[in-house]
Amino acid sequence: MKHHLRKLLKRFPRLKRAAQRLLSARGVSTDYQELADEGRTAELERLGPAWKSEILPARQRELVERELTAYLQGAAVPVFDVLVRSLRDLDDTGEPLRVLEVGCSSGYYSEVFAIAGLVVEYAGCDYSEAFVAMARARYPGLNFAVEDATALGYPDGAYDVVISGCCLLHIPAYPLAVAETARVARRYAIFHRTPVVIGRPDMYYRKKAYGVETVEIHFNEAGFLALLAASGLELIATHTLDETLVDGRGHATRSYVCRKKVA
Ligand SMILES: C[S@@+](CC[C@H](N)C(=O)[O-])C[C@H]1O[C@@H](n2cnc3c(N)ncnc32)[C@H](O)[C@@H]1O
Repeated sequence: MKHHLRKLLKRFPRLKRAAQRLLSARGVSTDYQELADEGRTAELERLGPAWKSEILPARQRELVERELTAYLQGAAVPVFDVLVRSLRDLDDTGEPLRVLEVGCSSGYYSEVFAIAGLVVEYAGCDYSEAFVAMARARYPGLNFAVEDATALGYPDGAYDVVISGCCLLHIPAYPLAVAETARVARRYAIFHRTPVVIGRPDMYYRKKAYGVETVEIHFNEAGFLALLAASGLELIATHTLDETLVDGRGHATRSYVCRKKVA
């Protein structure tokens, strides 16, 4: 059956593209439900470890493979382009930057950077053993570790750049994760693909990511920027991936590039 379907899709590329679009729309984020104040703490505690699910790596990687293939063929992939640009724009000392991605999943940004011709020394960590196992299998020459973003095992200033890889939104204790990112960064911290709300307080959702129940937090932007400043970080660039604003209220997804303030 699968074989026949594959043959059919190969013969009809437009059908194949439509099927791919359907699959990715179905697969990533669905079933959003806002969490009311009452019972929220218990629900956040239940959903905090959700990304450790063993079924997530294969499901996410399927989508990533398609994006990597498109990127390799020269297509623009906005989330890749933004992170590549964020790194490229950092002042250059001539030495390759030592970069740690926290919440690295299968480590695919190492491949994105290589495709883009960006010379960095990449390492990754994730709290999911299953994701880290996949990363080690895919990229055996690179360094991956099982680490929780809220209590990283690295010394202060261990990496030139620490990328918080679109994971804060899934971390109920996110102020701790911001503080840890800042502590382990020697020069820069990048909070990639951060969902923010403008004109309203932090919003908490239960949603399905690739069919698995998780938590998603959208941060009040002013509060988030204040948290970065309080963590010893100076904002030096903001890249907006999407934004909807009406009368000063709305939401956006941005990558925030910060320089570590000298103590
Ligand atoms: C949406 S994926 C992001 C993958 C990739 N970094 C990106 O930017 O596309 C979120 C990743 O964060 C990881 N994660 C969630 N909570 C974490 C935590 N407390 N500590 C470390 N990693 C965490 C998940 O396991 C998952 O791999």
